[in-house]
Amino acid sequence: MKNLFITATDTDAGKTFVTCALAQALKSAGKKVATYKPISAGCQQTVEGLINEDAELLCRFANAKQTIKEINPIAFVDSIAPHIAAKQTNQEISLADINHYFASVVSLSADINLTEGAGGWRLPLSIEKKTFLSDFAVTTKQQVILVVNMKLGCLNHALLTYEAIKADGLSCVGWVANQASVSTMANLTQNITSLEQLLPMPKLAVLTFDDTKQTLSAKIISAAKKINIEPLIS
Ligand SMILES: Nc1ncnc2c1ncn2[C@@H]1O[C@H](COP(=O)(O)OP(=O)(O)OP(=O)(O)O)[C@@H](O)[C@H]1O
Ligand SMILES: [Mg+2]
Repeated sequence: MKNLFITATDTDAGKTFVTCALAQALKSAGKKVATYKPISAGCQQTVEGLINEDAELLCRFANAKQTIKEINPIAFVDSIAPHIAAKQTNQEISLADINHYFASVVSLSADINLTEGAGGWRLPLSIEKKTFLSDFAVTTKQQVILVVNMKLGCLNHALLTYEAIKADGLSCVGWVANQASVSTMANLTQNITSLEQLLPMPKLAVLTFDDTKQTLSAKIISAAKKINIEPLIS
């Protein structure tokens, strides 16, 4: 069993897009894939409780028979920093809870557990306890995949994130160059080459922004075909 944690240079960088594409690619290689998104902020209130779009998509692409609630146990209505959303609703995000819910994911015995982070690497859980989502990755010994949103400033964000992951004692097993918005970065190729020279882990994919009229699921399935999953399964 492998535990992969998908982080990114920032929010909206393409973590969900890439996590679902990874799930699709791994399923195509015959793997059983479970997904986990411990915290979400930005949800719809439904009769079944708070439902987050990312969790719905992760549920669609996993094949370990999970419910949305199992995939995303901690959810907040407002799309704001989760620890602030928690405070506004008199709650506190607990690292122990996040680890506990992950144990249920592990109990499904999938080949690969894909966890989508929230925001970037050092996302605060509780200011009082000085806990961060990165503490979950550390305590559960995740292997990390870094999604780099290719835009001006991303080299700095990618390198700082990589350094923080390394300083936390975890191994970063791959990175994905993703273009999460329609505007193409100037000198995209040179920027990707620079990152290849500066980051020691393998580049798993270059995903351009898919602005076709396909559904999001179809775009993810197309993106999955461009991912080299070899370093993750060998
Ligand atoms: N390569 C791509 N082609 C087309 N659309 C993309 C691509 N990458 C990301 N997107 C779209 O960009 C938006 C942001 O991506 P996504 O939701 O995956 O980011 P995220 O890092 O998961 O954000 P959050 O921090 O909110 O969880 C989404 O609408 C997603 O479908
Ligand atoms: Mg997301």
